[in-house]
Amino acid sequence: MTANNAALFQPARIGHMDIRNRLAVAPMTRVSANDDGTATALMCEYYQAYAAGDFGLIITEGLYTDQLFSQCYRQQPGMTNGQQAQSWQPIIDAVHSEGGMIIAQLMHAGALSQYSKYAAHSSGPSAVKPLGQQMSFYYGEGDYRLPQAMGEDDIQAAIQGFAAAALLAKSAGFDGVEIHGANGYLLDQFLTTYTNQREDKYGGNLTNRLRIYQEIVSAVREAVGPDFVVGVRFSQTKVNDSQYRWPEADAAARQTFTLMAESPVDYLHTTEPLLNEPAFAGSPSLASLAKQISGLPVIANGGVSQPELATAMLESNQADVISLGKTALANPDWPMAVQNNQPLDSFNFAMFSPIANLENARRYFTQAHDAESPS
Ligand SMILES: Cc1cc2nc3c(=O)[nH]c(=O)nc-3n(C[C@H](O)[C@H](O)[C@H](O)COP(=O)(O)O)c2cc1C
Repeated sequence: MTANNAALFQPARIGHMDIRNRLAVAPMTRVSANDDGTATALMCEYYQAYAAGDFGLIITEGLYTDQLFSQCYRQQPGMTNGQQAQSWQPIIDAVHSEGGMIIAQLMHAGALSQYSKYAAHSSGPSAVKPLGQQMSFYYGEGDYRLPQAMGEDDIQAAIQGFAAAALLAKSAGFDGVEIHGANGYLLDQFLTTYTNQREDKYGGNLTNRLRIYQEIVSAVREAVGPDFVVGVRFSQTKVNDSQYRWPEADAAARQTFTLMAESPVDYLHTTEPLLNEPAFAGSPSLASLAKQISGLPVIANGGVSQPELATAMLESNQADVISLGKTALANPDWPMAVQNNQPLDSFNFAMFSPIANLENARRYFTQAHDAESPS
């Protein structure tokens, strides 16, 4: 570690959770679970490696929250019954034994569901076909399906699904949960004007479009009690729309992050293509807005590969923790490598080919290693 990046290695506190440094692994879907949604031994190795590499916090891939419409991908892990919850216990123990903390990301696919073991159709705020094409590296093909518009009962069921999943995550021993409110999935479909054409209390103005966030946070908090970490993730862009920006711009940030400050939430997690860029013309970064407006601890994500950018975000008080996605995939020991001034590897999309799962990543690393070894 050099004096220049010492800020990365200061301890942090989020809610009741102490973290040994400011470095988190961003949630990343790895489509490597068993068919029944339970976690595997390979997933345990994968998550343990991040903790052994000195990441202070690991946020899991998005776990589906109910056996109705929440599942997004084939081989996605779930958090909907005792077996699924228990299958994470070895992973949680392995991460804790390496000094890391681990949060379960809870995710409802909504209209972006590409596959479900449980439902014959997808569902979302309105019957609007999602933009773009299904993701082939997660086993998808062709257009997204036209979702069925959710009735109020469906919305209540989805909210209760988050609450039940959070309680299961707590019982499994996770240090907290993150509600996935970003990237185009169900909650973000409610927030986004063109996917939410509802005329009831969940659609129309921003207050209504944010209502589901508020109700999920409240239901989750009620389920897990006061001492368990609960966070929410926000983005402007989506997996199927990289151009979308909040139409109300600064006013949206002010209303959204004020609502979160008034809700029983311990942290916010923002993700943007590049975490330090202005969120809107002439504005601070989204992370910085989240922090200034809510006063909550903020995890900032997007485009970090080198320690200098992460350090600058912390030193300019735009974030409390920095999460790394693709760079962490290429360098599961990124914090240790930075501390020891070792070279960092570049991320390569070949790791996701043909499917972005752990087996293909392992094959990629073995081949890269063999290519480097003298014959
Ligand atoms: C393979 C992969 C899977 C992802 N899965 C999720 C996910 O399950 N939940 C989520 O909130 N974000 C997910 N993301 C987005 C990342 O958390 C992160 O926001 C994105 O990669 C940008 O950060 P980076 O520039 O550090 O990679 C995923 C990203 C990748 C590359």
